[in-house]
Amino acid sequence: MRRTALFFGSVFIGLTVACASPASLSTEKTTLRLAHNMNESHPIHQSLLHFAELAEEKSEGALTFEIFPNGQLGSEREAIELTQTGAVDATKVSATALESFSPVYALFSIPYLFDGADHYYTVMESDIATDIYDSTADNGFFGLTYYDAGIRNMYTIGTPILAPEDLRGLKIRVQPSETAIEMTRLMGGAPTPMAFGEVYTALQQGVIDGTENNETALTSNNHGEVAKEYSYTEHAIVPDLLIFNQSRWESFSPEEQRILKEAALESSEFHKELWAAETAEAIARAEEMGVTFHEDVDKAAFRASVDPMHQQVKQDPDLAPFYERIQEMRKEGHTND
Ligand code: GCU
Repeated sequence: MRRTALFFGSVFIGLTVACASPASLSTEKTTLRLAHNMNESHPIHQSLLHFAELAEEKSEGALTFEIFPNGQLGSEREAIELTQTGAVDATKVSATALESFSPVYALFSIPYLFDGADHYYTVMESDIATDIYDSTADNGFFGLTYYDAGIRNMYTIGTPILAPEDLRGLKIRVQPSETAIEMTRLMGGAPTPMAFGEVYTALQQGVIDGTENNETALTSNNHGEVAKEYSYTEHAIVPDLLIFNQSRWESFSPEEQRILKEAALESSEFHKELWAAETAEAIARAEEMGVTFHEDVDKAAFRASVDPMHQQVKQDPDLAPFYERIQEMRKEGHTND
């Protein structure tokens, strides 16, 4: 937390100055601080910039954002803590990282929760998602919107992961979350939790044998330089979330809240298209880097291996109601097999 202390000590002071603004908006110009852990070449950075531009435009300059990419303010966990206390106003994090702050977010890390992309989008654009976003208000933050973060797959330095036995004995980096740890253990690997920013070096130094993520990690974060076997296990579709400090939000007028919400939803739509294009581009670039993409994965075997997690979630009084609602949204013909 050394960086955080520095951050409190010197970088940020209240950033509001008087400026001309439409009557319905505050007469103060407010600069909000937004953190995330990806570099400037990653599609999420472009979409967060777009969000900031929309908010500024719609508020006629009254609301502006300062964006801190690259995990400059710390890991996802640290950034969530800063958002809780209000030291930063908003943060983009993986839903998985939110699990230790609010157990309901563990749902998104349940492997094979969604039947495929269509089922996922249906849920994320329904009131199930907004009910989850609003459930953390007592923890000092809430979810404003989600951003597509693709489908997570296993990728390794050596053996491709085509069936659970291929994971045996392999150290696989997972997000620091109980659910991700349990998933990897049941799928057959040895889970090694660590922050995303440490993964490249861990791969390079052979501390881990592989990890799991969407295809952009191969290129934007250079994981494909070291891990050459990308296997379509398609075990999880975990959204990124834009979380916002609750009391900061409550300090805004209804008009400002409307503008921020609208900007967030529009940027989420923008991101969906950008994501599809950037994923295709990442695959092409990763192939040039020498990465092989394996489609011939025994997903039925992986799915069966993690069934105990589904049975467990059905028994959990906090998660089961959300889980059931998600199951009801499964559509015929949109399976992931
Ligand atoms: C995805 C996600 C990030 C997360 C990362 C991880 O890339 O978009 O928010 O940090 O996975 O595996 O930690």
